[in-house]
Parts: sequence; C-alpha cells; structure tokens
Amino acid sequence: NQIYFAGLSGVLPSLPVDTATLEARAAAAMAPSLLSYVQGGCGDETTQGANASAFAHWGMVPRMMVDATSRDLSIELFGHTLSSPLFMAPIGVTGMCTQDGHGDIAAAQASAMTGVPLCASTLANDPLEAVKAACGETPAFFQLYTPRDEDLAASLVARAEAAGYAAIVVTLDTWVTGWRPRDLNTASFPQLRGHVLTNYFSDPVFRSRLAKPPEEDGPAAVRHWAATFGKVLTWSDLPWLRSLTKLPIVLKGICHPDDARRAVDAGIDAVYCSNHGGRQANGGIAAIDLLADVVAASGSTPVLFDSGVRSGTDAIKALAMGARAVGVGRPYSYGLALGGAAGAAHVLKCLLAEADLLMAVNGYPTLADVRAAGTRRLT
Ligand code: FNR
Repeated sequence: NQIYFAGLSGVLPSLPVDTATLEARAAAAMAPSLLSYVQGGCGDETTQGANASAFAHWGMVPRMMVDATSRDLSIELFGHTLSSPLFMAPIGVTGMCTQDGHGDIAAAQASAMTGVPLCASTLANDPLEAVKAACGETPAFFQLYTPRDEDLAASLVARAEAAGYAAIVVTLDTWVTGWRPRDLNTASFPQLRGHVLTNYFSDPVFRSRLAKPPEEDGPAAVRHWAATFGKVLTWSDLPWLRSLTKLPIVLKGICHPDDARRAVDAGIDAVYCSNHGGRQANGGIAAIDLLADVVAASGSTPVLFDSGVRSGTDAIKALAMGARAVGVGRPYSYGLALGGAAGAAHVLKCLLAEADLLMAVNGYPTLADVRAAGTRRLT
C-alpha cells in the first residue's frame, strides 16, 4: 500500500515493480558476460521458460465475507519464526552483481532490511562469516556445494555452524555443470570464476592442500578448486553429512516424490523442491508442476520451493500448494545489479507487497488459509 499510495500522489518507485520490466532494465545495465551467466540456463532453456510460464496453469479462488484487514505472512522454520515466507535462493555469482564486487554482502544487507532470509551460496565473493554478519538479526542458511575433499566439506560446514547459520542446504544437482550454451558461447563462467571462490581460498583445509597460498599462485588454487569441486552424493552419504553438523539439513533439488519420501525416511529436516531454475537439466518439467507431489510425499517435513517465481502471486500459489517457504532467485540479482542492497530490498518488498495484497483481496488472512484454499489446475 505504501508503494501504491505514494504512486498515486506522484512519487513513483525508482525501480520497476514487476520482474519483466526489472529484468529488461537490468539486461541493459549488466556486463554481457554476467548477464548471460545470470539469465541463461540449460540447453535451449525450455525448462527454464516452463518454470515461469507454468504458474499460469494454476489459479486460486477468492473467499468473501472474511475479515482479512490484517494478514500474517510469518512462518515457522528450523525453530525460528520468520516474518516472511520468502527467502533469497542461493546464487553463486551474487558478488559480481554489484559494481564493487560485494553483492553477497549487499544481498545480506537486503535480508537485514526486509527480514527475508538469505540462503548464502558456497560460491560467494565474500567469506561466509562476513555474509552472515551482514544479515543482522535475520536468520540465514548456508548452501553447500559438497567438495570431494571430505575434510574441506567438514570445514565449510563447521565454519557455517560457528558463524551462526540456521541450516545447511545441500545442493544435490550440481556435482557437474549442465550444458549452458550462453556460458559456452560467451565464455562467461571462466571470467567470473576466480571471483567466487573466496570460501575455498579462505578455508584452512583448502589452503593446507596448496603448495603456495592462493594470493601467491591463483591459477594453481583455481585448478585445485576445480579438482575438488562436486562430490557425487548418494543416499549412503547421508549419515556422513549428518555427522558434520547439529544444524538442520535441507536437500536441494528434490523433484521426485520417491526421493522426497526417502529423504524424509532418512530423517532429513527439510526437502527443497527445485530444478535449479532450469540451469542444470533441460527437457524437464516445470518445478511448480512437481511441487504438490513432493509435498504429499514429505508428510509433515517442511518443503522449500524455488524455480520460476517472478511475482508475489507466484509465491502465494506455491504456498497454497504446500510449500513452507518460497525461494526468489534471479529477480533479486537484477535488483542488486540495478540498485545494490536497496535494489534487492525493493524487489523483495514488491513481491511481499503483492503477496500480501493478494491475501487481502482473496480473503486469506493467514498462510494456513492460503494452504486451505489451495489451487486449481486450469484446463
Ligand atoms: C543459481 N542457483 C544456485 N543454486 C545453488 O544451490 N547454489 C548456487 O551457487 C547457485 N548459483 C546460481 C547462480 C545463478 C546465476 C542462478 C540464476 C541460480 C540456483 C538457485 O538457487 C535457484 O534454484 C534458481 O535461481 C531458481 O530459479 P529462478 O527462479 O531464479 O529462475
């Protein structure tokens, strides 16, 4: 309402309030290699496109004669009460999204400003300790790309636990990088890679493996990183992962109900339904079309969701289908690129404002009402 009424009195927001316009504005502002890395996906990007467009197949039915004058968007997750059902999905080049190269810190500051938690990527430009500190009072999660060097994995997790992260989100689908023509055609990732290895370069175990510190021999450090990146995790690794931390463990990339069931049976703390925004595999199914089955298979275990969320309405649909929390990915990168921490905060506030207004007009005062209302599939 603040944004809307300010607009009616002639004070227009400095950044676009919808993702399509925001993305177009960001595309014009970002360096081509960075843009192709953030905006691009796997193959001809069919799955990536379907992630966003499939939300249109689902609709909600409003309820009337309900007092929805105040709405409660808070959720319980990992023992915390979070003011927002949104979180920032882990994005590995976030650091490069701001001119100063510290976009991870800017994202964390946006989290502190809005109360929207950040899931901080392993592939960050700033050390995970500094990123956590910049989140202020808002809880944060640490996303783990599990290295093949198990001591290094243990060290990263121990650092995250010591830094105060509230959960470890283990990404399952990226032990190898998918076929991404835009990256290959513009050679964008090699240009960005050296900048996003800070968590490795600052790690005592990683450093102990090198003949010379990364400051003295960067190329050797990058080579060593490439040699240790990407442990192939299987179900038999779960006890080992569990032994690394007391924090809740979340498995990111679960799309099949049988995998969700197996994760729950193994005692995992949350299931994260995501197809990595269509960046890893093409020829898939829109993640939102898989969510309901994953939720059903997960029973009372919380399900996190991302892939294709572009509006507050999309987020409410995912919550209505049973997601406990909904991850925003590319849109906040565009906010960072256009306006740093304030830009990302603007994007998150717009998504939350749209979600809140939808709950008001649809007569859903709480997220329990949203879930009870559910969604209907359009034919
Ligand atoms: C990602 N994603 C990702 N996931 C992860 O677990 N660790 C990571 O470091 C990254 N890095 C990353 C970089 C970029 C540029 C993008 C766009 C995405 C995937 C991310 O967490 C999330 O699953 C997707 O962004 C969701 O898709 P949309 O909604 O952004 O299209």
